[in-house]
Amino acid sequence: MSAGFPPEARFTVLHVAGARPNFMKVAPVLRAMESRAGLRSLLIHTGQHYDAAMSLSFFDELGIPEPDEHLGVGSGTHAQQTAAVLVGMEAVLQKRRPDMVMVVGDVNSTVAAALAAAKLHIPVAHLEAGLRSRDRRMPEELNRLLTDQLSDLCLTPSRDGDANLLAEGIGPERIRFVGNVMIDTLERILPEVRGLAPAGCESLPERGYVAVTLHRPSNVDNASTLAGIFRALVELAREVPVVFPMHPRTRKNATVFGLSTDGVRVLGPLGYRDMLALLARAGLVITDSGGVQEETTVLGVPCLTLRDTTERPITVTEGTNRLVPDRSTHSILEAFRTSWGTPSPTKRPEGWDGRAAERVADAVEEWAAGADRR
Ligand code: UD1
Repeated sequence: MSAGFPPEARFTVLHVAGARPNFMKVAPVLRAMESRAGLRSLLIHTGQHYDAAMSLSFFDELGIPEPDEHLGVGSGTHAQQTAAVLVGMEAVLQKRRPDMVMVVGDVNSTVAAALAAAKLHIPVAHLEAGLRSRDRRMPEELNRLLTDQLSDLCLTPSRDGDANLLAEGIGPERIRFVGNVMIDTLERILPEVRGLAPAGCESLPERGYVAVTLHRPSNVDNASTLAGIFRALVELAREVPVVFPMHPRTRKNATVFGLSTDGVRVLGPLGYRDMLALLARAGLVITDSGGVQEETTVLGVPCLTLRDTTERPITVTEGTNRLVPDRSTHSILEAFRTSWGTPSPTKRPEGWDGRAAERVADAVEEWAAGADRR
């Protein structure tokens, strides 16, 4: 559906991406909007993630165009990082004056960009709105709560998101269920990587290994918690191959804490295609990532999430996900033994159908068409 704007009156959406989990969500939305005559996209990279393996490889593999601007904010404390994005975005928005700013996910770049836009009275759309873990110790939970309050258009990936927003006083006119755009990317790339394995993992038997991703501060910043998790992984590696593409935060802390990864195949961070290939062939996944909980649900791979809450409860109720709240060596090993070798059928929560980005473009067109009346 196109709103049929004349070219000179195209409605400009400025998309903001900054960290690894943002890139696979922005990619399909940019594609979907490209084909809408009335919409024009700009892309800003905040630079929250900057290593080639955490950023550039995703742009290359997912065909994301070169950003129109790069803020280069880099790492820092939460205040430093959030403030740097806020200052950088304010200047970009004053110069570009878009009709709408679209932020995705729940990272520091998301909330900072939303705040900069809202203060300049530029409408904000939040993609992946409404998810709640109800754990305010998670920086992402604070980012989610604040971003949704600042947003004029809350685009939700699952119906629980709609209910959470309504309960927080966000009116139904601001909420639009669109489904899960990350699954659009999975659907597009999966046929190309089916049967492939990341470099160095070719000999791993299909469904015969465990894939691990860990990066949450609650798991990796605490020496005794991380030691307990690593002990479980070393133990598991005596029984089945364990492959662990390690996030830079985790690697740094494991070194500082002097932890052993004996027998575990530790890799650097993987690009999107390699990661998807690794997950798709795994017998079980151990993670603390939000996105991986969703991907394993759609892939039908059992997933153990080392957290006591999830903002994606649908992956537990309708998918393959199971929480391991206490994250002790014993609990992880016990959960492994009950879940290993029980692949589930592929799960499709509502709107996780590979067409969510088209619904995002529809929602933006409709919003643009009604903008004059607001
Ligand atoms: C951030 C997000 C988290 C998301 C995760 C995905 C916030 C609050 N957190 O966490 O929600 O799940 O990204 O990866 O926004 N580093 C590098 N190279 C990089 C980026 C980071 O080495 O390209 C290292 C730096 O030492 C940095 C640390 O990783 O201090 C943490 O990076 P940061 O962006 O602060 O948070 P993440 O843990 O990546």
